[in-house]
This record gives sequence, C-alpha cells and structure tokens, in this order.
Amino acid sequence: MVGERFFRHINAACWDPEVRLQEMDRDGVDVQVVSATPVLFAYDRPVEHALDCARLFNDAALELCSRGKGRLRALCQVPLQDIDAACRELSRCMRSGHLGVQIGNHVGEKNLDDPGLVTFLQHCADEGAAVLVHPWEMFGQERMPKYMMPWTVGMPAETQLSVVAMILSGGFDRLPDTLQICFAHGGGSFAFLLGRLENAWHHHPVARAESEHPPSYYLNRFYVDSAVFDQRALQFLVTTMGAERVMLGSDYPFPLGEEHVGSLVRQTNLSPDAKIKLLGGNALRFLGLEGESPNAASGMAAGSSSPVLPSPGQLTYSSYLKVPELLELQQPQSVPPHHDELLFILVHQTYELWFKELLHDLDAVVANLQKAGAAPQSRDEVYEAARLLRRCTEITRVLVEQFTILETMLPTHFLAFRGLLEPASGFQSEQFREIEFLCGLKDEKMLRYHRPTPEAYASLERRLEEPSLRDVFFGALQAMGKLALAVEGATERERFEARARAVHELYKDEHHHRDWIDVCERLTEFDELVVSWRLRHIQLVERIIGIRMGTGGSTGASYLKLTLDKKFFPELWEARTLLTE
Ligand code: HEM
Repeated sequence: MVGERFFRHINAACWDPEVRLQEMDRDGVDVQVVSATPVLFAYDRPVEHALDCARLFNDAALELCSRGKGRLRALCQVPLQDIDAACRELSRCMRSGHLGVQIGNHVGEKNLDDPGLVTFLQHCADEGAAVLVHPWEMFGQERMPKYMMPWTVGMPAETQLSVVAMILSGGFDRLPDTLQICFAHGGGSFAFLLGRLENAWHHHPVARAESEHPPSYYLNRFYVDSAVFDQRALQFLVTTMGAERVMLGSDYPFPLGEEHVGSLVRQTNLSPDAKIKLLGGNALRFLGLEGESPNAASGMAAGSSSPVLPSPGQLTYSSYLKVPELLELQQPQSVPPHHDELLFILVHQTYELWFKELLHDLDAVVANLQKAGAAPQSRDEVYEAARLLRRCTEITRVLVEQFTILETMLPTHFLAFRGLLEPASGFQSEQFREIEFLCGLKDEKMLRYHRPTPEAYASLERRLEEPSLRDVFFGALQAMGKLALAVEGATERERFEARARAVHELYKDEHHHRDWIDVCERLTEFDELVVSWRLRHIQLVERIIGIRMGTGGSTGASYLKLTLDKKFFPELWEARTLLTE
C-alpha cells in the first residue's frame, strides 16, 4: 500500500533472504545488491519522517543482507529533500556497510543539475559511495492514466532527462571522475537519442548550456544497467556506451523484471569478454569492490562457503582457463550458422584437446621408460609409466564414447554444411598422426597431407626421427638383458619374433616382472582402444555419409577399414600366441 492506495502485490523475495538466495541459485547470480523500492523514498514528506523512513529501511536492508550468506549487499536511501540530512545518513550508512545509495532521479521540481543535488553527489564521491539513479514520480502522468504508460514511456524519459541534465549543466565537469553513478533501465531513452542531443549541442549554443564538451564526451562518466529486454537494444546500448559501461540490472523481483535474471546478457551475441564485464566485472568497479580482499568483497565471514570475488589482477576461473578465448574459437562456416555445425566443431576440438593430453602423457611414458632402461634396478619409472598409460587408456575410452554425441546429427543436417569443409579432413589432424608416429606406426607417406602447414610438417618429421614408444620399450627390455641384441643380417621378421619372445619371457616370470607386465597390459589395452576408436569412427562415417568419398580425397569408409589392422605394439599381441598352457 502507498498510504491508503493499493500499489503492488509483493512476494517473499522482498523480505526473505532464503527465497532470494534460492532464486539467485536458479539464475546463476552470485551476489545481488538490494535497495528499497523508489515509492518508499518519501522525498515529499517532512525531512524527519523521510529520515526515519530511510533509517528504518537502511538498517533493515543490512539485517536482511546479514542473513544472505555474504551474497546480498545493500544500497541505502536518504532524505534527499534535505541535503545535509541526506549527506549525514549516507555517511552513517557507508560506515555500517552499505555500498552506496539509490536516489530518485529528481526531488520534486529539482533535477540532478540542482546545486544541492550536485553537492550530494560530490559527497557520494568523497565517501566512495556508488549512486544508482532510479526514475520515479513520472512527469505528465495526467496524460498517461492508462496502459502502464508511466512505466513504459514516462520512466525512460525521466532517466534520459536526468542524464541530459547532468551533462548539459556541466555537472560532470564539476564533479570528480571518481563519482560512480549509474542510471537504471539502460539509461532510459538516452542512448537512442544521443545523436539528436549531439546534433543540438553542435548547432544550437543554447543546447550546449554549461557543458564543456559535446554529450558523447561524457559517456565514460556514468554507467547504465542492462534492463532493456531486447537483444538489439542491448547490442546498441553496448555499442554506444562501451562494454565497460553497461552492467547487469534486473528489476528483480518486480513485474517488469527479467524472469530469469541475466538471461538477456547471457544470450546476447556480445563477445565473451564483454559478457563477463556486463555480468559482473563492471559492477565490481562501480561498487568499489575491485580493490577489496575477496572475502570482504562478498561481505562474508572467513571460512564461509559463500562465493569470493576476485580483486583486479587476481587469477579467476576464466582468466586461468582462458574461457573467453576458448569460447571465441568456434567459428562456423555456414551463414547463417547451421545449428549442428557448432556441435561438429566442438566435438572435433574436444578430440584435439584430448589428443594433446595423450601426447603429453605418452611423451612422459617414453621418458620414464628411457630412464628405466638406463637404470634397470630402479622400479619407480616403470610404475610411473604404467600409471600414465592408465590415464591414456581412460582418455581413449572417452574418445571412443564421444562419437555417440556426433551421431545425434542427422546425415541431412551434416550434408547441409559439409560442402563448405572441403578439403579439410581428419587426414590433416597433426596430433592424431603424431600419436601414431610416437607410438611406433611411422608412415612417411602421411606427411604429404601436412605440406600446406610447415610447422605441422616439421613436428611430424621430428617424430619420425625420434625413438618411438615401441622402440623405447624394447630398448629397456634389452638393457634389462631380456632381449638379445639383434644379430647382424637378421631379417625384420626375425627381429620381430625376438621381441615377441622377450615379452613372452616377462609373462612367464610373473613373480619378478609384475611391474613390466603391468606396462605390457596397459600398452595392449591402449592399442585395443585405439582400434575401437578407428572402428567407431568408421561406423560414424558410414552412418553419416555412407560410402561416399572423404573430404580429404580418400575412398572414405572403405579406406578407413584398411586402417583397422594397424597395431602400435604387434609384438605384445604375438606374445600371446606364444604362451602355452
Ligand atoms: C561427420 C563426422 C565425420 C565424418 C563424415 C568423417 C569422415 C572421415 C573420412 C571420410 C576420413 C578419411 C579421410 C578423408 O578422405 O577425408 C576421415 C579421416 C579421419 N577422421 Fe573423420 N570423420 C568425421 C568425424 C571425425 C571426428 C569427430 C574425428 C575426431 C578427431 C575425426 C578424425 C579423423 C582422423 C584422425 C582421420 C584420419 C584417420 C586415418 O588416417 O587413419 N573424424 N574422416
């Protein structure tokens, strides 16, 4: 109720922190800044009443926040009809934990260019208090009795009026640039009509008023929120104001608020970096939380499980993992992007990331087996090689499974963009070929697919020259005296059989060679899983393009079937045939 008049139904989210926190969790909001609703400003009441009212709400807001597990912070309100009283209440609130103040965009007839209000804003800057300007008591209401027009037409105009008043009065010229001030609802109609204002400023001296510079000069002096409810409007707002100047605004929990806070920003086409700014980075700066310690920034007790907010320059989840850069790396070729092309790109990229980890681990396995060969009595390296090989098998198991995700793509959907991919093909996967070469399957002919990329070509040439995992494994067995040096003139077949017999010897003496048998088992399993990968890949290919030719120029599935016989460690398989009961 406002006086005797019904104003609005409200729900528990207005007073129950638990409800707020649940809804914040639902929407993925870490920290919320709460303020009383503008109808409670009481600027038209005697100052004592307004001050009582402000104190009541300000203390209640802090009490509510104290039950918010460090995730609720508050903006106070002040009796703005009396500047001294307003300044005193602001100082009291800042001392007791408020982050700033929410003010109405006018006090009766006084706009933000009123000297008293400018004095108050100066005081806010001195106190380091963030100022949120909210439109209220919309003008022209006698002409807007219907259709909720005061909210949809009046409010945006009120806000625009305030920004224009601040600029043209020279308010921004006089106030320090440390003042953190934000105008609600995207700054109302300001951004859209900035061109008109700018034009007037340049052509009509009277429209320049006291401002030293054209209006667009002051865009970096204030923030606006993102509550514009339309993708194109948000894009435009960010283009006009800059991504540093727009921050998530929700109007939560009122009827004109976003149903799921943040969804507009999250769904927009802005760059990931810009989204991060809009979703939190800018607010941290605006609220003066950037410099605080993470715990203080989120207002929580040490040891609590509430979120911590990073200070500038500190490592964050995103900056450590380079999430924005990562999310920039999916660039569909189809225009407009075909829905399934993102999946196609992501699945391939995921494979490549795991290939990278496989190479990393397989290189470490090689290094460990080399050390084991150099010091045959030491067992640590053999255990470490077996441990890392287990990781390789687990990764490959995931890689075999992952094809099922791509199989949710209909053949027709793939064909819709396949033509754009030629001549790109899995043949050109440098890392896949590196894994083959590193494990021992060295096929020089495959280099030709990498001629267009000299760096890849050079890495593969190096892999061809370096000892493979297979070489290093048998080198170690040789150093242990399990494998005789090959006699000169021995055929490749004879060498192969000698190596298989060496493995056979290990298995026969399980008691002494448990660690090496473990390495053999892991290598065999890895080999087996890579064949499973080849088979699942073929099934996928047949399911999606039948027996068509590949984009890399091969005969497609029938070529790939020939690769099924490839083994990294054939001697390990041969040894099984040699074993008898
Ligand atoms: C729509 C899905 C896919 C189709 C239709 C497809 C098709 C093909 C075809 C036809 C080839 C033979 C080379 C050529 O002529 O292009 C091939 C090779 C290859 N593909 Fe795929 N592929 C698909 C998905 C994948 C995925 C998700 C990966 C994961 C990295 C992958 C990795 C490879 C590799 C490494 C080769 C070379 C294999 C070898 O030379 O042994 N493919 N692919």
